[in-house]
Amino acid sequence: MSSQVTSQNPEYVAVFDTTLRDGEQAAGVCFSLEDKLEIARALEAMDVDVIEAGFPQASPSEARAVAAVARHVRDAEVCALARAVPADVDAAAEAVREAARPRVHVFVGCSALNLEHQLRRAVDDVVQSVRSAVARARARVAVVEFSPLDATRTGPAFLARVVRTAIGAGATVINLPDTVGCARPEQVSAMVAELYTRVPELAGVVLSFHGQDDLGLATANTLAAVAAGARQVELAVNGIGERAGNTAFEEVVMALDLHGPALGVRTGVDTRGIWPLSRLVEARSGILVPPNKAVVGPNAFRHASGIHQDGVLKHRQTYETLDPAAIGHPVGTEIVLGKLSGRTGFRSRVAALGIELCEGELEAAFCRFQRVADRGAVVEDEALRLICSGGGGAAEAWPGPGV
Ligand code: KIV
Repeated sequence: MSSQVTSQNPEYVAVFDTTLRDGEQAAGVCFSLEDKLEIARALEAMDVDVIEAGFPQASPSEARAVAAVARHVRDAEVCALARAVPADVDAAAEAVREAARPRVHVFVGCSALNLEHQLRRAVDDVVQSVRSAVARARARVAVVEFSPLDATRTGPAFLARVVRTAIGAGATVINLPDTVGCARPEQVSAMVAELYTRVPELAGVVLSFHGQDDLGLATANTLAAVAAGARQVELAVNGIGERAGNTAFEEVVMALDLHGPALGVRTGVDTRGIWPLSRLVEARSGILVPPNKAVVGPNAFRHASGIHQDGVLKHRQTYETLDPAAIGHPVGTEIVLGKLSGRTGFRSRVAALGIELCEGELEAAFCRFQRVADRGAVVEDEALRLICSGGGGAAEAWPGPGV
């Protein structure tokens, strides 16, 4: 729960999941109401602190879906997004009205680029809209988050001014978005440190970071924000989201699991739900997880080269940082046979299939295997059985996709 982020609990980092909101902004993604409910339930079961369910003012069906999530989720906070305009704030507050723990998230563009070219508004006007939108939201819900959009490209003086205004109007969470994913970790640290200096009132609210992955730096930037004092991280499962996506939920949660003790922080997430959650979001979003995706990629625990196979077979941690069981991986460490595999990996797969061969037969089978493996990507079990039975020629002619 984000209410766990208190001065009594300084090590707690709240996980704010935005798969259903910013995740859905990924080109081609459209979650149905049922999809949103299913994903929200999975997130809640993993003790995620905040579920950002959507942007109610976007459409009536979006408002209905957010309201349905708000009705069904009881433990996590349910959050709705709003621009800093009265109609959005009212729609967001209405959508989360039945939530056990409602939150409204107000944002406005704050960089000079945004002000001049998109909003075409003066700074004082923007500050006034922050004041009135945050106060309007706070009159309806107890937890109000404010995001100065494009914070990492906003001048420090203006950033401090809008943040102080939002806190003064009742914001309880200040979120700093790297909206276009352009920042480096040390810039994020410096931004957070400078903001704490300029706005002492920040000590009384939760500071959050929201990274986009345009340069592949979102996870590193998020960890830098946490190290600098942020106690909420905004994440999306499988890293889906606008353009190149959001900060990947699984990456930050597992990085904090691994490095939390060194950083003096922890999350409350039950990591064992990560693998099934990733598969669920992959299926419902239609965005396939690439084989080499950190933590949840199909290859994340597969070892194909001889030296690595030899190592993990002797001691799993020689070539694995994460424990597959810790993320609920259904198979665990796998030895995959291919061109670069060695005798140790080959023997282990043969033994796993229950095939018994004497030393000479094994060596002959290994030679046949190498000829087959040289021709293709992966030697699957069926081909391996053929190879071991002496049918190397048959295996070479094997039509299966794995060979
Ligand atoms: O990317 C972004 O800046 C956002 C904000 C609304 C947090 O999604």
